[in-house]
Amino acid sequence: MKLTYLGHSAFEIKSGKAQILIDPYLVCYPNYDRNHVTDIFVTHGHGDHLGSAMDISRQSGAAINAVFELANYCSSNKARANGFGLGAWIKFPFGRVIFLPAFHSSSSPDGIYTGCPAGLLFEIEGKRVFHAGDTCLNSEMKVLKEVFRPDIAILPIGGTFTMDVEQAAIAAQWIGAPKVIPMHYNTFDAIVADVSKFVEAIKEQGKEPVVMPVGESIEL
Ligand code: NI
Ligand code: MN
Repeated sequence: MKLTYLGHSAFEIKSGKAQILIDPYLVCYPNYDRNHVTDIFVTHGHGDHLGSAMDISRQSGAAINAVFELANYCSSNKARANGFGLGAWIKFPFGRVIFLPAFHSSSSPDGIYTGCPAGLLFEIEGKRVFHAGDTCLNSEMKVLKEVFRPDIAILPIGGTFTMDVEQAAIAAQWIGAPKVIPMHYNTFDAIVADVSKFVEAIKEQGKEPVVMPVGESIEL
């Protein structure tokens, strides 16, 4: 599978015929080809995560997968959407996914409540990828290490709205994934972070920090 960073908290995963988009706020990657997307996942309703999801869904026909209230919001705006709750594996043609707790808030850009925020755990081609969404440090992360054992953790480090560098380093410790990708930093003034400090902290834990420039891909 190929994981590509699209800036902020947006990622693409390609596996077989699947072209999966996560939190498609594409201001950092405006030329992204939206026509072949097969599945969209959105962690919560905030504009920097919902992003272009509804437009891309209407354009490509791909369904938006999200927590129930957010999915209803998307459906009411004429995008295809599937609503889920936290905590069970959900099967897809490419593998399976669990929505997990994130500690944050969730409303649409026009101010409608969109349920609880979520993190996403993907299992694709036998690999587990955890995308934390927007969250603070929380002890649920220890459950990830104990029960779900992700191979790679994608964590917000920008502070103000989420964990900062120091807390994200603790999160990495608690989650235990051998590879860690920072996200949700340096997009706006409010979330400027020193990624080199994060890299240092992850290395000290004996893990591999993977800092991805926008548009870069890695094979997993
Ligand atoms: Ni948010
Ligand atoms: Mn955000």
